[in-house]
Amino acid sequence: MQGILLSGGNGTRLWPMTIATSKQLLPVYDKPLVYYPLSTLMLSGVRDIVVITTPNSAAAHQNLLKDGSQWGINISYAVQNEPKGIPDAFNVAEGLLDTSKGVVLILGDNFFYGPDFDQEVLFTPDSKNAICFVSEVSNPSEFGVVELDSKGLTLRIIEKPKDFISNVALSGLYMFPNDVFKIVKKIVPSVRGELEIVDLLNSYIPEGRLITRFWSRGTAWLDTGTPHRLLEAGSFVQILQERQGLLIGSPDEVAWRLGLINSEKLSENAMALKGSDYGKKLLTLI
Ligand code: TTP
Repeated sequence: MQGILLSGGNGTRLWPMTIATSKQLLPVYDKPLVYYPLSTLMLSGVRDIVVITTPNSAAAHQNLLKDGSQWGINISYAVQNEPKGIPDAFNVAEGLLDTSKGVVLILGDNFFYGPDFDQEVLFTPDSKNAICFVSEVSNPSEFGVVELDSKGLTLRIIEKPKDFISNVALSGLYMFPNDVFKIVKKIVPSVRGELEIVDLLNSYIPEGRLITRFWSRGTAWLDTGTPHRLLEAGSFVQILQERQGLLIGSPDEVAWRLGLINSEKLSENAMALKGSDYGKKLLTLI
């Protein structure tokens, strides 16, 4: 399967931290933020990944993630010159993807953790329907919000609704069938000048082609858009990793557990980082 990791954006809510670097390269405890959505994409079954960056952070992303072979996957890069909105990802990455196949899209600043997460996130490729993962939240007016009928069918999605319509929020992970490349070209920018993910998703609703999938109650979804939430995500990772002696959001560990790399390769990756606790933890896995 193929996927897009959207790692552009201005990160204005994190200024001045994101003036000289991108949000997705900031640390979440012991790893760069982008490691977490990358690990999610790998767990979802994606092996060919286009990472979309800003012009300024392209070289830094490539230094960090390389061509993906160290994790048994393929990573290529595309630059989004201006943050024209999330659906613009399909225009920017089109030349690097197989347009006869569907695409998984993940936002580069989203972060998930749960006991059965690796089972929940596995995609069965769907050539007809779009899929969006959602979660119940206490502050829906800050998110794209999904209204469902009593049978669970998606009625509409509204970006940051002022009035309450539901507490079900889009969580930043989507799958689209291959017609997304055509549909995205019909979407017009909103008043804030961006192509909106809610408009793209809403265009699948009239034909009954949008499936809403809830994360289970035990799965945590952390958004890292503000300093407070970034710190919260880091503390969450620190507490779980230290108490349970595991790693969260490690592409090295995920690659090894999925059999994409063998123990020898994991050991090579770990030895290159052995000066850090992260590298040492990888060595203890083997
Ligand atoms: P946002 O959090 O909506 O935007 P942002 O990251 O620029 O932050 P801020 O609102 O503080 O200015 O973006 C969600 C994710 O999508 C994030 O990982 C950045 C990415 N993104 C792009 O790569 N390109 C875009 O055009 C947009 C709008 C977002």
